Amino acid sequence: MNILLLNGPNLNMLGQREPDKYGTQTLQDIVDDLQAQAESSNVTLTHFQSNAEHALIERVHAAMGSVDAIIINPAAFTHTSVALRDALLSVNIPFIEVHLSNVHAREPFRHHSYFSDVAAGVIVGLGAMGYSLALTAAINLTKSQK
Ligand code: DQA
Repeated sequence: MNILLLNGPNLNMLGQREPDKYGTQTLQDIVDDLQAQAESSNVTLTHFQSNAEHALIERVHAAMGSVDAIIINPAAFTHTSVALRDALLSVNIPFIEVHLSNVHAREPFRHHSYFSDVAAGVIVGLGAMGYSLALTAAINLTKSQK
């Protein structure tokens, strides 16, 4: 089973970036924990982070045919990117949307997501644990579809 983890803009700054909202773990810490979880479930997890919309879109396109499920934190692109939404729809791979912070308890512009209505599921506000829950869900979803 192949699962792709995608992280959008500014998530490379985790650990230093607004720790009151996003926690003190770095992105590498989160990815390392997730890799260990994937390994213990015999799952191949590939990670890609970019600050560039086109790079994320191209990574989604490249996943077609080889990836069973995507876990994505689109970060600020959540609230702006029709293009990344369309990319996910174009490859027809189920995806789970994750946000570290509870976007619904924040500024009104963070309440709308271009992804949630087409996601298999959405996890918000649980910090880094959200990624781990998403990986468990992605594995179970993929197994139930096979
Ligand atoms: C975020 C929430 C977004 O609104 C914000 O732009 C981010 C991170 C989160 O994980 O809580 O960059 O996706």
